[in-house]
Amino acid sequence: MGRIALVTGGSRGIGAAISKQLQAAGYTVAANYAGNDDAAAAFTAETGIKTYKWNVADYEASAAGIAKVEADLGPIDIVVANAGITRDAPFHKMTPEQWHQVIDTNLTGVFNTVHPIWPGMRERKFGRVIVISSINGQKGQFAQVNYAATKAGDLGIVKSLAQEGARAGITANAICPGYIATEMVMAVPEKVRESIIAQIPAGRLGEPEEIARCVAFLASDDSGFINGSTISANGAQFFV
Ligand code: CAA
Repeated sequence: MGRIALVTGGSRGIGAAISKQLQAAGYTVAANYAGNDDAAAAFTAETGIKTYKWNVADYEASAAGIAKVEADLGPIDIVVANAGITRDAPFHKMTPEQWHQVIDTNLTGVFNTVHPIWPGMRERKFGRVIVISSINGQKGQFAQVNYAATKAGDLGIVKSLAQEGARAGITANAICPGYIATEMVMAVPEKVRESIIAQIPAGRLGEPEEIARCVAFLASDDSGFINGSTISANGAQFFV
Protein backbone atom coordinates (compact mmCIF):
# COMPACT_ATOMS: atom_id res chain seq x y z
CA MET A 1 0.00 0.00 0.00
CA GLY A 2 3.00 2.23 0.65
CA ARG A 3 1.36 4.61 3.08
CA ILE A 4 3.42 6.32 5.78
CA ALA A 5 2.21 6.69 9.36
CA LEU A 6 3.58 8.81 12.21
CA VAL A 7 2.71 7.93 15.80
CA THR A 8 3.70 10.43 18.49
CA GLY A 9 4.63 8.85 21.78
CA GLY A 10 4.88 5.78 19.60
CA SER A 11 7.53 3.73 21.37
CA ARG A 12 5.79 3.05 24.70
CA GLY A 13 2.35 2.25 26.12
CA ILE A 14 -0.66 2.62 23.85
CA GLY A 15 1.54 4.33 21.25
CA ALA A 16 3.82 1.30 20.91
CA ALA A 17 0.84 -0.97 20.36
CA ILE A 18 -0.46 1.46 17.70
CA SER A 19 2.90 1.57 15.91
CA LYS A 20 3.06 -2.23 15.81
CA GLN A 21 -0.55 -2.60 14.67
CA LEU A 22 -0.05 -0.13 11.81
CA GLN A 23 3.16 -1.89 10.80
CA ALA A 24 1.28 -5.20 10.77
CA ALA A 25 -1.37 -3.57 8.55
CA GLY A 26 1.33 -2.79 5.98
CA TYR A 27 2.16 0.84 6.66
CA THR A 28 5.66 2.22 7.02
CA VAL A 29 5.68 3.60 10.55
CA ALA A 30 7.72 6.31 12.26
CA ALA A 31 7.46 6.42 16.05
CA ASN A 32 8.19 9.72 17.76
CA TYR A 33 9.34 9.81 21.38
CA ALA A 34 10.27 12.58 23.78
CA GLY A 35 12.92 11.37 26.15
CA ASN A 36 13.35 7.69 26.92
CA ASP A 37 16.25 6.75 24.60
CA ASP A 38 16.61 3.24 26.05
CA ALA A 39 12.94 2.38 25.51
CA ALA A 40 13.09 3.77 21.97
CA ALA A 41 16.23 1.77 21.12
CA ALA A 42 14.68 -1.41 22.53
CA PHE A 43 11.49 -0.74 20.57
CA THR A 44 13.40 -0.31 17.30
CA ALA A 45 15.46 -3.43 18.00
CA GLU A 46 12.27 -5.41 18.62
CA THR A 47 10.16 -4.10 15.74
CA GLY A 48 12.45 -2.51 13.16
CA ILE A 49 10.29 0.64 13.44
CA LYS A 50 12.38 3.81 13.24
CA THR A 51 12.14 6.15 16.21
CA TYR A 52 12.53 9.93 16.09
CA LYS A 53 13.16 12.11 19.13
CA TRP A 54 11.47 15.46 19.60
CA ASN A 55 9.25 17.21 22.10
CA VAL A 56 5.71 17.62 20.73
CA ALA A 57 5.26 20.66 22.99
CA ASP A 58 7.81 22.53 20.83
CA TYR A 59 6.48 23.65 17.43
CA GLU A 60 9.88 24.18 15.79
CA ALA A 61 11.16 20.81 17.04
CA SER A 62 7.98 19.12 15.78
CA ALA A 63 8.23 20.73 12.34
CA ALA A 64 11.91 19.76 12.08
CA GLY A 65 11.24 16.20 13.27
CA ILE A 66 8.37 15.76 10.82
CA ALA A 67 10.52 17.12 7.98
CA LYS A 68 13.16 14.51 8.87
CA VAL A 69 10.58 11.68 8.90
CA GLU A 70 9.27 12.79 5.51
CA ALA A 71 12.80 13.06 4.08
CA ASP A 72 13.56 9.53 5.29
CA LEU A 73 10.29 7.74 4.56
CA GLY A 74 8.13 9.96 2.34
CA PRO A 75 5.04 12.12 2.90
CA ILE A 76 3.00 11.27 5.99
CA ASP A 77 -0.48 9.98 5.14
CA ILE A 78 -1.59 8.97 8.62
CA VAL A 79 -0.82 10.85 11.80
CA VAL A 80 -1.69 9.50 15.22
CA ALA A 81 -1.41 12.21 17.89
CA ASN A 82 -0.96 9.98 20.89
CA ALA A 83 1.76 11.59 23.02
CA GLY A 84 0.44 12.63 26.39
CA ILE A 85 1.39 13.15 30.01
CA THR A 86 -0.35 13.44 33.37
CA ARG A 87 0.43 15.80 36.23
CA ASP A 88 -2.44 14.86 38.53
CA ALA A 89 -3.31 16.94 41.58
CA PRO A 90 -6.51 18.11 43.22
CA PHE A 91 -7.32 21.55 41.79
CA HIS A 92 -6.52 23.40 45.00
CA LYS A 93 -3.00 21.94 44.86
CA MET A 94 -2.47 22.11 41.09
CA THR A 95 0.35 24.49 40.20
CA PRO A 96 0.46 26.71 37.11
CA GLU A 97 3.46 24.62 36.03
CA GLN A 98 1.39 21.40 36.18
CA TRP A 99 -1.35 23.10 34.20
CA HIS A 100 1.01 24.40 31.50
CA GLN A 101 3.03 21.18 31.15
CA VAL A 102 -0.10 19.18 30.39
CA ILE A 103 -1.65 21.82 28.12
CA ASP A 104 1.61 22.26 26.19
CA THR A 105 2.11 18.52 25.62
CA ASN A 106 -1.40 17.11 25.28
CA LEU A 107 -3.23 19.97 23.56
CA THR A 108 -0.71 22.28 21.89
CA GLY A 109 1.20 19.11 21.07
CA VAL A 110 -1.68 17.99 18.85
CA PHE A 111 -1.58 21.31 17.00
CA ASN A 112 2.20 21.06 16.67
CA THR A 113 1.94 17.52 15.30
CA VAL A 114 -0.87 17.94 12.80
CA HIS A 115 -0.20 21.49 11.58
CA PRO A 116 3.07 20.79 9.71
CA ILE A 117 1.55 17.67 8.06
CA TRP A 118 -1.81 19.16 7.10
CA PRO A 119 -0.79 21.16 3.96
CA GLY A 120 0.71 18.03 2.36
CA MET A 121 -2.43 16.02 3.11
CA ARG A 122 -4.53 18.76 1.48
CA GLU A 123 -2.32 18.78 -1.61
CA ARG A 124 -2.35 14.98 -1.97
CA LYS A 125 -6.10 14.80 -1.24
CA PHE A 126 -5.72 12.09 1.37
CA GLY A 127 -5.11 12.02 5.08
CA ARG A 128 -6.01 10.32 8.30
CA VAL A 129 -5.72 12.31 11.54
CA ILE A 130 -6.34 10.22 14.63
CA VAL A 131 -6.13 11.83 18.05
CA ILE A 132 -5.94 9.76 21.22
CA SER A 133 -8.20 11.52 23.69
CA SER A 134 -9.48 9.89 26.91
CA ILE A 135 -12.56 8.87 28.85
CA ASN A 136 -11.50 11.62 31.23
CA GLY A 137 -12.00 14.24 28.52
CA GLN A 138 -15.60 13.01 28.28
CA LYS A 139 -16.47 12.71 31.96
CA GLY A 140 -13.84 14.76 33.81
CA GLN A 141 -11.74 13.23 36.57
CA PHE A 142 -10.87 14.13 40.16
CA ALA A 143 -7.31 15.54 40.17
CA GLN A 144 -7.22 15.99 36.39
CA VAL A 145 -8.54 19.48 35.63
CA ASN A 146 -5.50 19.96 33.39
CA TYR A 147 -5.61 16.56 31.66
CA ALA A 148 -9.40 16.51 31.23
CA ALA A 149 -9.27 19.98 29.67
CA THR A 150 -6.77 18.80 27.07
CA LYS A 151 -8.62 15.60 26.27
CA ALA A 152 -11.93 17.47 25.87
CA GLY A 153 -10.03 19.94 23.69
CA ASP A 154 -8.89 17.08 21.45
CA LEU A 155 -12.53 16.43 20.59
CA GLY A 156 -12.98 20.04 19.51
CA ILE A 157 -9.86 19.76 17.36
CA VAL A 158 -11.04 16.69 15.45
CA LYS A 159 -14.58 17.99 14.96
CA SER A 160 -13.18 21.18 13.44
CA LEU A 161 -10.48 19.48 11.35
CA ALA A 162 -13.09 17.03 10.05
CA GLN A 163 -15.08 19.90 8.56
CA GLU A 164 -11.98 21.53 7.08
CA GLY A 165 -10.52 18.34 5.63
CA ALA A 166 -13.60 16.52 4.35
CA ARG A 167 -13.48 17.88 0.80
CA ALA A 168 -9.76 17.16 0.60
CA GLY A 169 -10.14 13.48 1.43
CA ILE A 170 -8.88 13.94 4.97
CA THR A 171 -10.65 12.49 7.98
CA ALA A 172 -10.03 13.45 11.60
CA ASN A 173 -11.32 11.29 14.43
CA ALA A 174 -10.69 10.74 18.11
CA ILE A 175 -10.47 7.64 20.23
CA CYS A 176 -11.33 7.90 23.91
CA PRO A 177 -9.65 5.02 25.70
CA GLY A 178 -10.87 4.15 29.14
CA TYR A 179 -8.38 2.89 31.71
CA ILE A 180 -5.77 0.85 29.85
CA ALA A 181 -3.01 -1.29 31.39
CA THR A 182 -0.08 1.05 30.74
CA GLU A 183 2.60 2.66 32.90
CA MET A 184 0.43 5.79 33.12
CA VAL A 185 -2.43 3.94 34.79
CA MET A 186 -0.10 1.74 36.85
CA ALA A 187 1.35 4.98 38.30
CA VAL A 188 -2.01 5.71 39.95
CA PRO A 189 -1.90 4.69 43.64
CA GLU A 190 -2.94 1.04 43.96
CA LYS A 191 -5.99 1.69 46.13
CA VAL A 192 -7.26 4.33 43.71
CA ARG A 193 -6.64 1.99 40.77
CA GLU A 194 -8.61 -0.78 42.46
CA SER A 195 -11.52 1.58 43.00
CA ILE A 196 -11.35 2.59 39.32
CA ILE A 197 -11.42 -1.03 38.15
CA ALA A 198 -14.44 -1.60 40.37
CA GLN A 199 -16.24 1.08 38.28
CA ILE A 200 -15.54 -0.69 34.97
CA PRO A 201 -18.39 -3.06 34.09
CA ALA A 202 -15.95 -5.19 32.08
CA GLY A 203 -14.16 -5.82 35.38
CA ARG A 204 -10.70 -5.21 33.97
CA LEU A 205 -8.37 -2.64 32.46
CA GLY A 206 -8.23 -2.46 28.68
CA GLU A 207 -5.24 -3.69 26.70
CA PRO A 208 -3.20 -1.30 24.51
CA GLU A 209 -3.92 -3.54 21.51
CA GLU A 210 -7.64 -2.91 21.95
CA ILE A 211 -6.99 0.77 21.23
CA ALA A 212 -4.49 0.00 18.46
CA ARG A 213 -7.10 -1.98 16.54
CA CYS A 214 -9.45 1.04 16.62
CA VAL A 215 -6.64 3.14 15.17
CA ALA A 216 -5.99 0.63 12.38
CA PHE A 217 -9.64 0.79 11.40
CA LEU A 218 -9.72 4.60 11.37
CA ALA A 219 -6.50 4.63 9.33
CA SER A 220 -7.92 2.34 6.66
CA ASP A 221 -9.78 3.24 3.47
CA ASP A 222 -12.82 1.47 4.93
CA SER A 223 -13.36 4.32 7.39
CA GLY A 224 -13.55 7.11 4.78
CA PHE A 225 -17.05 8.35 5.72
CA ILE A 226 -16.31 8.36 9.45
CA ASN A 227 -15.17 11.91 10.09
CA GLY A 228 -15.26 14.01 13.24
CA SER A 229 -16.27 11.00 15.31
CA THR A 230 -15.25 9.74 18.70
CA ILE A 231 -14.80 6.04 19.36
CA SER A 232 -15.10 5.19 23.05
CA ALA A 233 -13.27 2.04 24.16
CA ASN A 234 -13.76 1.84 27.89
CA GLY A 235 -15.36 -1.48 28.91
CA ALA A 236 -18.76 0.24 29.42
CA GLN A 237 -17.40 2.59 32.11
CA PHE A 238 -18.95 5.70 30.57
CA PHE A 239 -21.37 6.55 27.75
CA VAL A 240 -21.71 9.88 25.97
N1 CAA B 1 -13.24 11.23 43.96
C1 CAA B 1 -13.48 11.89 45.11
N2 CAA B 1 -12.55 12.10 46.04
C2 CAA B 1 -11.33 11.62 45.82
C3 CAA B 1 -11.00 10.92 44.64
C4 CAA B 1 -12.01 10.73 43.71
N3 CAA B 1 -11.79 10.08 42.56
N4 CAA B 1 -9.70 10.60 44.71
C5 CAA B 1 -9.23 11.07 45.87
N5 CAA B 1 -10.22 11.67 46.56
C6 CAA B 1 -10.14 12.30 47.84
C7 CAA B 1 -9.46 11.41 48.87
O1 CAA B 1 -10.41 10.53 49.45
C8 CAA B 1 -8.92 12.40 49.85
O2 CAA B 1 -9.99 12.86 50.67
P1 CAA B 1 -9.76 13.18 52.21
O3 CAA B 1 -8.78 14.30 52.26
O4 CAA B 1 -11.14 13.53 52.74
O5 CAA B 1 -9.23 11.89 52.81
C9 CAA B 1 -8.52 13.52 48.94
O6 CAA B 1 -9.28 13.42 47.75
C10 CAA B 1 -7.08 13.34 48.49
O7 CAA B 1 -6.46 14.39 48.97
P2 CAA B 1 -4.89 14.37 49.09
O8 CAA B 1 -4.50 15.71 49.61
O9 CAA B 1 -4.41 13.18 49.84
O10 CAA B 1 -4.47 14.20 47.58
P3 CAA B 1 -3.04 14.22 46.99
O11 CAA B 1 -2.55 15.61 46.84
O12 CAA B 1 -2.16 13.24 47.69
O13 CAA B 1 -3.36 13.67 45.52
C11 CAA B 1 -4.13 12.10 43.88
C12 CAA B 1 -3.69 12.33 45.33
C13 CAA B 1 -3.18 12.78 42.91
C14 CAA B 1 -5.52 12.68 43.69
C15 CAA B 1 -4.11 10.58 43.72
O14 CAA B 1 -5.13 10.03 44.51
C16 CAA B 1 -4.31 10.15 42.28
O15 CAA B 1 -3.35 10.08 41.53
N6 CAA B 1 -5.54 9.82 41.93
C17 CAA B 1 -5.81 9.26 40.59
C18 CAA B 1 -6.32 10.31 39.65
C19 CAA B 1 -6.64 9.60 38.38
O16 CAA B 1 -7.57 8.82 38.28
N7 CAA B 1 -5.85 9.85 37.34
C20 CAA B 1 -6.00 9.16 36.11
C21 CAA B 1 -4.66 8.68 35.66
S1 CAA B 1 -4.74 7.52 34.30
C22 CAA B 1 -5.01 8.47 32.96
O17 CAA B 1 -5.08 9.66 33.01
C23 CAA B 1 -5.19 7.76 31.66
C24 CAA B 1 -6.52 7.98 31.11
O18 CAA B 1 -6.67 8.74 30.15
C25 CAA B 1 -7.69 7.24 31.65
